[in-house]
Amino acid sequence: MSHEQGFLGFLLLTVLLLVAVAWTGLRAKRRLHIPLVLLTVASLGMAIRFALKVGQHYDLKAAGAITPIHMFMARTATFAYLLPVVTGILTLRQPRHRRLHGIVARVVIVLTLLATLTGALMLWKAPRI
Ligand code: HEM
Repeated sequence: MSHEQGFLGFLLLTVLLLVAVAWTGLRAKRRLHIPLVLLTVASLGMAIRFALKVGQHYDLKAAGAITPIHMFMARTATFAYLLPVVTGILTLRQPRHRRLHGIVARVVIVLTLLATLTGALMLWKAPRI
């Protein structure tokens, strides 16, 4: 498996898992929701590992302003995953936190999509080494 294939595979898996996490959360299927969150985070970790390898095959600096923009988005999205984890645990203890959890979950989903979009743009603009 090439680094590109590994990256694309885990990226797609992460997005599909994230859809499943949102679906099970909205339907209050907790016994599926929480294991799916763990799988999503593991898959995201693998996607990032492969992304760092793929980055070595491209002249990312030559892609221009999109590179620092993507790096910022990718880091923000990754750290933002802590928010639904903390609010998810709070919701397990006190259901009144469900609304807050739903809001931060949506923020994380949007940030993940933005990181994916800016990353694709960056690779498209960067010459292959
Ligand atoms: C990327 C991570 C996560 C995402 C995207 C996510 C998404 C969601 C969404 C969209 C909802 C529905 C909220 C609403 O009604 O607006 C939900 C509910 C919930 N989530 Fe998460 N979640 C995540 C992580 C977690 C974690 C780590 C936990 C617990 C450790 C958790 C526990 C819960 C619980 C208890 C509910 C309420 C279910 C119920 O009403 O019975 N979530 N989640």
